[in-house]
Amino acid sequence: METLVVDHPLVAHKLTTLRDVRTDSPTFRRLADELVTLLAYEATRDVRVTDVTVDTPLATTHGVRLARPAPLVVPILRAGLGMLDGMTRLLPTAEVGFLGMIRDESTLKAQTYATRLPEDLSGRQCYVLDPMLATGGTLAAAINFLFDRGARDVTAICLLAAPEGIAYLDEAFRGGDRPIRVVTAALDERLNENGYIVPGLGDAGDRLYG
Ligand code: PRP
Repeated sequence: METLVVDHPLVAHKLTTLRDVRTDSPTFRRLADELVTLLAYEATRDVRVTDVTVDTPLATTHGVRLARPAPLVVPILRAGLGMLDGMTRLLPTAEVGFLGMIRDESTLKAQTYATRLPEDLSGRQCYVLDPMLATGGTLAAAINFLFDRGARDVTAICLLAAPEGIAYLDEAFRGGDRPIRVVTAALDERLNENGYIVPGLGDAGDRLYG
């Protein structure tokens, strides 16, 4: 598994304001949206394209367009929904699937309450959106849903990740033949006794939606 921590002053600047306990929900939503677009720029570095020719007003030249089938973007409800617009701004032709998952706060196990994905994802590149990678249980379950339907490779875009979650995913998918990448704005210190990322930014779903 590949982990990319995007090292960019604009990313760090926006993340700092997201972390700030004084940042209100409207500002949090706007910054999360902007941050996703910056992360998505890096996360889509390997998006598949096909060669085309294009007529400029002066000549014909070579270029590329996004390959078909289009990538699938999957926000994990609820908090991942706050990342969808920022992602589709960069990939407007992407198809969108949905996973509704909630972590049981006593067991820290992920429970799935909604799945709305294309049946056949054979050969598809998939981008999963979830602000927080904490224990990794939610993301591992989401990736398994996509692989079960034939997805070719999965990139997760997270605002924050904990080392415990990265290690869990690395172990869970070790030796697999389909690539997994995690792109994040920061790798934080640790999880606390309640499974929250520290220093983190609190509960992303609550800060986005109250
Ligand atoms: C949060 C977060 C992730 C998950 C991370 O969602 O958005 O989906 O927890 O935890 P994990 O890595 O330990 O599995 P939450 O369950 O709070 O649901 P919400 O998005 O509806 O607020």
